[in-house]
Amino acid sequence: MNSIEDKPIGFFDSGIGGTSIWKEVHQLLPNESTIYLADSKNAPYGQKSKEKIIEFSIKNTEFLLNKNAKIIIVACNTATTNAISTLRKKYDIPFIGIEPAIKPAGLITKTKKIGVLATQGTIQSDLFEQTSSSLDTTIEIIEQVGEGLVDLIEKGEIESKQMQKLLYKYLNPMIEKNIDALVLGCSHFPYLIPHIKDIIGNKIKIIDSGSAVARQTKKILTSLDILQNNKNNFTHEFYSNKNTKILSELLNNKKVKLIKQNF
Ligand code: DGL
Repeated sequence: MNSIEDKPIGFFDSGIGGTSIWKEVHQLLPNESTIYLADSKNAPYGQKSKEKIIEFSIKNTEFLLNKNAKIIIVACNTATTNAISTLRKKYDIPFIGIEPAIKPAGLITKTKKIGVLATQGTIQSDLFEQTSSSLDTTIEIIEQVGEGLVDLIEKGEIESKQMQKLLYKYLNPMIEKNIDALVLGCSHFPYLIPHIKDIIGNKIKIIDSGSAVARQTKKILTSLDILQNNKNNFTHEFYSNKNTKILSELLNNKKVKLIKQNF
């Protein structure tokens, strides 16, 4: 490894959901090497205390720094909303975070009602509260904790009856309240989009943050002059402290190296 642009982009998530963000970043920046950490052993983060989420986020950051990451994408709303300010103070490396895209939803809503499906940790965070209160006060935000969804995705049970039941339970009250935009505030949830669409139909727009994170990453790497332009040198390593089977299913057809490791 010769220069900083050759170093990988680091990603971490409580588990496999952040691969939805990885895919967007990889699509926009195909020359970049990447290292992805799935802390699946400790998933879900959403019901844990802020202190615990900060502790995990520090551990994950140290891991990625040891692997020479040049920038870190916190591919988890729960970790971003609870820990990114601590990480930015503690480490001298750029961090890109992901938080529920309620501002874009606020700009497109006509019914003035937007739904947010996220974890308890995200919805209860100060950052979420700040962003919500910056919206036009005529807009009502219908918040829903998606308890149980991350667990099922981590187990590879996206197609299960239980998933369908939970999605109905969480989405129906939002439909009844006449939302016209649904914000997916968890990086695991883009994998549920086909099932969500079956329930909410085409009139409610689904908004997630993946492409915005990819654009922001490109912007920061460009401004720091550490974007990789060499087309041939990239590698992609995915580390999991649990089973790599579901991870590999989500990354089908992608040429990546999967590594099971304790961390
Ligand atoms: N992907 C994480 C997020 O975006 C899942 C949180 C969890 O582990 O509960 O919030």
